[in-house]
Amino acid sequence: MIIREAKFLMSNSRVDQCPPPVLPEYAFIGRSNVGKSSLINMLTGQKGLAKTSSLPGKTQLINHFLINDSWYLVDLPGYGYAKVSKVSRAAWLKMINYYMRHRENLACVFVLIDSRHEPQAVDLEFMEMLGNEGVPFVMVFTKTDKLSGSRTQQNVASYLQKMGESWDELPRHFITSAEEKTGREEVLGFIEEVNR
Ligand code: GTP
Ligand code: MG
Repeated sequence: MIIREAKFLMSNSRVDQCPPPVLPEYAFIGRSNVGKSSLINMLTGQKGLAKTSSLPGKTQLINHFLINDSWYLVDLPGYGYAKVSKVSRAAWLKMINYYMRHRENLACVFVLIDSRHEPQAVDLEFMEMLGNEGVPFVMVFTKTDKLSGSRTQQNVASYLQKMGESWDELPRHFITSAEEKTGREEVLGFIEEVNR
C-alpha cells in the first residue's frame, strides 16, 4: 500500500471524544518503550509524526492519525513498565482497556512485543483480555535490528510456542524493525487486506 498522506488529528483521554467512528481504525499497544510510536513513524514514512523517546512513558494519550483520508492509526500509551509511576500506569491501563472494549470501529489491534525479551505476563494477560473481549489483534515483534536473524527466529519461535500453550489458534504475527524498516510492506499489506 502507498501512504499518500498521514496527518495528526487529535489527542485525548476519552474514547467518547475520539474522532467519529466511521473509518476503520488500527491501534498500536504494548509495553512502554516497545516501539509503538516509532513503528507508526516507520509505517507512515514520517519520522516526527508520533513523538518518540528513549525514556518509557512518552505517549500518554489516545492519538489519532488519519491515513490517506480513509483510515486511522492510533498511538496509545504503554502498559506495564516499572519505571513509569504507579498512578500513571493504573490510569493508562484503565483508559486503554476502556478503549479496547468500546471503540466500535477498531478493525485490528497491533500488540507489540520486544523481540529480545522472554514472554512477559503483562503481554500474555493483555492478549488474553483481547481474546476474551473478541477484539481482533495481531502480534508485532519489534527492534529485530538489535538481534541476529537467527536469534530473532529463535525468540519468535519460542514466544509462539508459549502462546500455543493457551491459544488453540495463534494470532498472526509480524517481524519488524523501525530502524531498518523491516516488515513495513507486510504490515501495510495486512491493513490493506482488512480495509477491503
Ligand atoms: P511509550 O510511548 O513510552 O510507551 O514508548 P513507545 O512504545 O512508543 O516507544 P518509542 O517508539 O518511543 O521508542 C522507544 C525507544 O526505542 C526509542 O529510543 C526508539 O528510538 C527505540 N526504538 C523503537 N523502535 C526501534 C527499533 O526498531 N530498533 C531500535 N534499535 N530502536 C528502536
Ligand atoms: Mg509512544
